[in-house]
Amino acid sequence: MSLVTMKDLLDRAEGYAVGAFNASTPDMIPDILTAAEREQAPCILQVSWSALIFIGTAVFSALAPELARRVSTPVAIHLDHCTDIGQIEQAFGLGFTSVMIDASRLTLEENIRVTREVVRKAHARGISVEAELGRIGGTEDDVSSDVSTFTDPDEARWFVEQTGVDALAVAVGTAHGLYRGKPKLDFQRLRRLHEVSDAHLVLHGASGLPDEAVTEAVRCGVKKINVATELKLAWLEGVREVSGDDPRKVLGRARERVVEVVRAKIALMRGGT
Ligand code: G3H
Ligand code: ZN
Repeated sequence: MSLVTMKDLLDRAEGYAVGAFNASTPDMIPDILTAAEREQAPCILQVSWSALIFIGTAVFSALAPELARRVSTPVAIHLDHCTDIGQIEQAFGLGFTSVMIDASRLTLEENIRVTREVVRKAHARGISVEAELGRIGGTEDDVSSDVSTFTDPDEARWFVEQTGVDALAVAVGTAHGLYRGKPKLDFQRLRRLHEVSDAHLVLHGASGLPDEAVTEAVRCGVKKINVATELKLAWLEGVREVSGDDPRKVLGRARERVVEVVRAKIALMRGGT
């Protein structure tokens, strides 16, 4: 029914966060959307650049927008963690309604300059933009950081004013991939970031995050929550659960597992009020 921008989705999100789910195989595209349809929830279907190349740009751009339009709830299609403006410009023609420029490895001034340029180009096409300030630790498809640098609220306010970005990924103690110990989130900082920032806050690294931390993050004002690793693990477990020589049975179980995880995460992100 509706393919919308990320900003449209997040502007409407009162008292809940919208789940943003990474497709890393072609079959995950319909499965993430099926979960949104079954939960009757808005959702963000996202891919990293390397997942986009793996799936195939032609396959993705033919499949994702068409299937998203058939979902009865609003859906945005988002390019996750992109560090290259050239790739972002290619994504403009592939059906994305939202992009993330991740220039968090650069200095504040350079991050502002690069993000501002992406905002100018994307907004001219009606496409939303997410940026990152501070550094989220861990590894995610195309980005990796050994260090985690928490986002400073004063810098965040300045960054959003200077760039006009729609959504801001913040570093408050989450990390990409699975957690070794129990993650400790700085909720006070999150609340402060919500108070001072005109952009919607995004929480990355939700795989393995305890349910109560997700709920509290929603209470603190987070509007978009990213999940990738748990979908990959569920898919792999599903494959291993089925023996035999029928690819449809093996892949079928993997796909069911992905739908189950996405549905459970959506339900959790709704329960934050
Ligand atoms: O950008 C994607 C996410 O931040 C996902 O993180 O793999 O830890 O769920 P995750
Ligand atoms: Zn991320």
